[in-house]
Amino acid sequence: MLMARVDVGLPFPVPNLVAAAYDGDQYGPASHDDLGVALPPSLSGAVSRRKAAYLAGRYCAMQSLSQAGHPLPCDLPIGEDRSPVWPDGLVGSITHTDGLAAAVVASARDARGLGIDAESVIGVETCRLLRDQVVCDGEWRFGGDGSSWSDRLFFTMIFSAKESIFKCLYPQVGKYFDFLDVEIVAWDAESRAFRFRVLTDLSDRVSAGFEADGCYSILPGMVFTYVGWPCRPRQEKGRIGC
Ligand SMILES: CC(C)(COP(=O)(O)OP(=O)(O)OC[C@H]1O[C@@H](n2cnc3c(N)ncnc32)[C@H](O)[C@@H]1OP(=O)(O)O)[C@@H](O)C(=O)NCCC(=O)NCCS
Repeated sequence: MLMARVDVGLPFPVPNLVAAAYDGDQYGPASHDDLGVALPPSLSGAVSRRKAAYLAGRYCAMQSLSQAGHPLPCDLPIGEDRSPVWPDGLVGSITHTDGLAAAVVASARDARGLGIDAESVIGVETCRLLRDQVVCDGEWRFGGDGSSWSDRLFFTMIFSAKESIFKCLYPQVGKYFDFLDVEIVAWDAESRAFRFRVLTDLSDRVSAGFEADGCYSILPGMVFTYVGWPCRPRQEKGRIGC
């Protein structure tokens, strides 16, 4: 299975972000040796599509770790609630969807969490079914003009932003939380940046009022979002413990 590096077009360069296109139809058992990523026993019975996505995500993660100066090979096991277990001293995130995979890592001295998400534009029926479970009422003021395409695109961006937020906060929260526990409170289409606020106490480290920033890009048929929780105190609002 070939992996071809791509630029996901975020509005600013994100250190150690590695993205690659892949063709899951080319996946075979030999792909793991070719790309230097073992198949974990828990996925041995999975369908090829899932194995290919796992391999593509882990391959990007290895490239990202290497770019960050971490020696390879290294283990990147599947942890609680499917979260990747990053090597000590590092935080990171993985995404894969419809032939695009990506990963990013940073030193835990610089970031408490990172989240990335690639999402194909969601279909009209799914948008209709999920909109009230995903989008807070106030968020529609930032986008969607009632036309089918615009609403689908905006719904997908909010959905993806919240998936990135989930991945970024999960290591400090340690449990699942809801899309409506987080609200996008600022959205700037020109700089393709957003700010979010946590609405309920999620853990003793992430309480109501916590805010951080993200950004996005729009690719053909897909959106890509990135969220970072920097250690620098000036970015933080609300009660946050380390
Ligand atoms: C975990 C979740 C975010 C994954 O998103 P997805 O769009 O299905 O899949 P993606 O391809 O973008 O990402 C998959 C990768 O996310 C990572 N991931 C999975 N669970 C994770 C978790 N709990 N924390 C952090 N990263 C996680 C994994 O690396 C996974 O790839 P892998 O299984 O091959 O290792 C999603 O399935 C989910 O369960 N969300 C919970 C509810 C939620 O998002 N609430 C929003 C709160 S604002």
